Amino acid sequence: MEITPIFTRRSIRKFSKREVSVKQIDTLLNAARNAPSAKNRQPWMFIVFGGDCKAELERCMERGLLREETEPILPRSDFGIPDAKNTLKIMREAPILIVIINSNGTSPFVPIDSDDRVTEICDTLSIGAAVQNMLLTAENLGLGTLWIANTCFAYPELTEFLKTGGQLVGAVAVGYADETPPQRSRKGIEEIAEYRF
Ligand SMILES: Cc1cc2nc3c(=O)[nH]c(=O)nc-3n(C[C@H](O)[C@H](O)[C@H](O)COP(=O)(O)O)c2cc1C
Repeated sequence: MEITPIFTRRSIRKFSKREVSVKQIDTLLNAARNAPSAKNRQPWMFIVFGGDCKAELERCMERGLLREETEPILPRSDFGIPDAKNTLKIMREAPILIVIINSNGTSPFVPIDSDDRVTEICDTLSIGAAVQNMLLTAENLGLGTLWIANTCFAYPELTEFLKTGGQLVGAVAVGYADETPPQRSRKGIEEIAEYRF
């Protein structure tokens, strides 16, 4: 049996109503800030939402998804809208949402040059490491999580509400799991790696 959180973690899409404490959230944020980052820039910012503030955030997401049906900002990705609506349902069920901001980033809807693109890639990777630290720490605490990028469809509505500047990268839903999903399939090592000795 695998006992490290890498192997037992699952994306959780059903949460119970049981509350998550501020101490638990602090533990997740502490894990996040200890991630490696390109040039030690630590380009992350986390905004923790619960209660009425969270409901307001979700209303912005809902408005964005409705607007996306008639005035899409991501027209070639419109096949993802039903999934994004399902993500919104999950966001509403989760007791806590941690919004993730790239504090050095800019809107993905404004073009950038190659220098800035390379910097953005490195910052996004750094933020990914921080988010994974949070997810694995949550697993160790007995908490369930869902990493969310479907916020991209409601980018204008959410960023106007957040007023943080930077780039909205996504969110993590946190709570106690009300399901035990099986492991999703994974590519075999032979499909993803080559040994060149
Ligand atoms: C960057 C990223 C964004 C994701 N966005 C969403 C999302 O918006 N909605 C959702 O339901 N799942 C989302 N997921 C979860 C993936 O669907 C999930 O990780 C994948 O299917 C593998 O399942 P597992 O996490 O249970 O191993 C996201 C995962 C990552 C890493």
